[in-house]
Amino acid sequence: MATDPQPELFTWEFATDPYPAYAWLRENSPVHKTALPSGVEAWLVTRYADARQALADQRLSKNPANHAEPAHAKGKTGIPGERKAELMTHLLNIDPPDHTRLRRLVSKAFTPRTVAEFAPRVQELTDDLIDKFAAKGEADLIHDFAFPLPIYAICDLLGVPREDQDDFRDWAGMMIRHGGGPRGGVARSVKKMRNYLAELIHRKRENPGDDLISHLIRASDDGEHLTENEAAAMAFILLFAGFETTVNLIGNGVHTLLQNPDQRARLQESLAAGETGLLATGVEELLRYDGPVELATWRFATEALTLGGQDIAEGDPVLVVLAAADRDPERFTGADTLDLSRSDNQHLGYGHGIHYCLGAPLARLEGQTALATLLTRLPDLRLAGDPADLRWRGGLIMRGLRTLPVEFDPEQ
Ligand code: HEM
Repeated sequence: MATDPQPELFTWEFATDPYPAYAWLRENSPVHKTALPSGVEAWLVTRYADARQALADQRLSKNPANHAEPAHAKGKTGIPGERKAELMTHLLNIDPPDHTRLRRLVSKAFTPRTVAEFAPRVQELTDDLIDKFAAKGEADLIHDFAFPLPIYAICDLLGVPREDQDDFRDWAGMMIRHGGGPRGGVARSVKKMRNYLAELIHRKRENPGDDLISHLIRASDDGEHLTENEAAAMAFILLFAGFETTVNLIGNGVHTLLQNPDQRARLQESLAAGETGLLATGVEELLRYDGPVELATWRFATEALTLGGQDIAEGDPVLVVLAAADRDPERFTGADTLDLSRSDNQHLGYGHGIHYCLGAPLARLEGQTALATLLTRLPDLRLAGDPADLRWRGGLIMRGLRTLPVEFDPEQ
C-alpha cells in the first residue's frame, strides 16, 4: 500500500493547519525524531495513549538540566528555562520534591471554589472590554478582547494594582509578538517584569492584602521554604502560563465557532434559553478540537526508555503534541468533527499528571464567560474578510491567530 510522503513540519502551511501532518505522524511515525527550527532534535509524541503515558512518566523530567546537549544551553534552543535565569525556577521546569512543595503552596488559590468567587470580576472585565467596541460594528477580537482579558484577570488575582496593569499588558504583548523572534525586546520586557515583581513583593511584605502574592509571602514567612526568588518565579509563571493560553482559547474558540455555524447556532440557542450545560462541554470541546498548547510540553529522559515502541536515549528531549493526541481517532469518535455536546472528552489540552494545568478552573471560567458574553451581546458576530487571509502565529509552543477581524450589528 502506498504511503503519503512525510509532510513538512514547521512551514507556513503547517502553522495554518497542522492537523493533516499530525494525522500522518500518528499513523506512520507516532514517536518521531525531528530537528526543530532551533536545530534541537526532539521526539514528537502524537498518539493519545502514548501522550498520556509520557505526560505522567516520572522518568521524563521537566527540568532542562536533564537535556543531554548542554552545548545548546548558550540560548536559542527555544527550550524555556534552558538559559539559567532567576524567574525560570518555576513549576513547569522542576520535578518533585520541589515541584510538590511549590505546587501545594499555590493550589489553594486555584480550586474551583476559590476561582468561582472571582466570577463577577471576570464578567465585569469581559463587559468592559466589549463596551469599548460594541458600538463600532467591528473589532479585532485578538487585540481588543482575547489579549487584554486574561492579563487583567491574572494581574487582579496576583494583586498587581490596576494602575500598573497596562504596563504588564505591554510587556506581555512584547513577549507574545516576539517570542522566538528577536530576543532584545523580549529580554528587556522580562527584565522589567522581574524588577517590577521584585519591587511588588517588597511592597506587599510591608503592606499585605488579600491577593496571591501576599499569600505567597506569608507562606515563605511561615517557614514553608519558599524563597523570595521562588515567589517571583511563581508570579511570573502564573502570568505566563495563564496568559497566551487563554488568549488563544478565546481566539481559536471564536474562530472555530465561526467556521461551524450549526454548532454555533446550537450554542446560541442554549445560551438564550439560560442553559449552561452546552457552554461547559463546548469550551472543553473547543480545547480538544483546536487548543492553544501545541508543543509546549518539554520533557527530558532521565534514563533510557521505550515509548510507543521507540527507544529514547537518556537526555533526549520529548515533546508531547497535545493538539495531535486530541485528534486521535483511536480515542475520540469523529475526532476531526466539532461536537460541542461531546461528553466522553478526556482531552489533554490541560495536560495530565502532576503538571496538569493549575489554572484550568480559571481558564474555564474565562473561556466560558468570554464566549457566552460575546455570543449573547453580539449575536450576529461574523468574520470580516476572507478566512484564507487569517494568519497564525508560527510558533512551536502555542497555536493562535495573530488577528481575528470581525464585524457585527453595532450594539445600540
Ligand atoms: C500547566 C494548558 C490556562 C497556570 C499547564 C499545562 C498545560 C496547560 C497543557 C501542562 C504542561 C506540561 O505538562 O508540560 C493551559 C491551557 C490554558 C491554561 C490550554 C487556557 C485555556 C492557565 C491559567 C493559569 C495556568 C489561566 C493560571 C493563571 C498553569 C501552571 C501550570 C500549567 C502554573 C504548571 C503546573 C505544574 O507544573 O504543576 N497548562 N493552561 N494555566 N498551567 Fe495552564
